[in-house]
Amino acid sequence: MVKIIKDSVKSLREKSTPVDLPLEPKYKKLLNEMLEYLKLSQDEEYAKKHNIRSGVGLAAPQVGVNKQMLVIYYEVEKQIVQHILVNPKIIATSVKLCYLSSGEGCLSVDKDHEGYVYRPNKVTIKAYDAFKDKEVTIVARGYEAIVLQHEIDHLNGILYYDHIDKKNPFKKLENSIEI
Ligand code: NI
Repeated sequence: MVKIIKDSVKSLREKSTPVDLPLEPKYKKLLNEMLEYLKLSQDEEYAKKHNIRSGVGLAAPQVGVNKQMLVIYYEVEKQIVQHILVNPKIIATSVKLCYLSSGEGCLSVDKDHEGYVYRPNKVTIKAYDAFKDKEVTIVARGYEAIVLQHEIDHLNGILYYDHIDKKNPFKKLENSIEI
């Protein structure tokens, strides 16, 4: 079982380095463990019993490995959204922004940080997909785009609350949509 590193730990603020391909078995194993953690965290009974919070995404630095890897897993309208990505790069972003009306959260951040986190509503990402075992180009919008950008931020040592306007956390930006 992976252990989640909290935002008081310095390594969470460091930039992650690219991963060599083909993927080493130890990193395959780690990605599987990260995926398993997310699935378990979404199991209400398990989460309650082990006192863990529910999460939809996890980046390798959050489990103490400063390598460019991330895992996303959630269900929406009976459809599973899953990404197991290595060396992801955002290659295009929309001008239009979006934000979660309830704000963002993070498994590494226990304290609540209220406010809107604005991100491009549409992103195009190139990465190596460790599940499909090939290079992929992902075009994501809305919630999926937010989650992907949140996890890629972790690979650059950035946390969601860095994006919140300290003076006016609920400032409404034009050209943005609420999700
Ligand atoms: Ni996070």
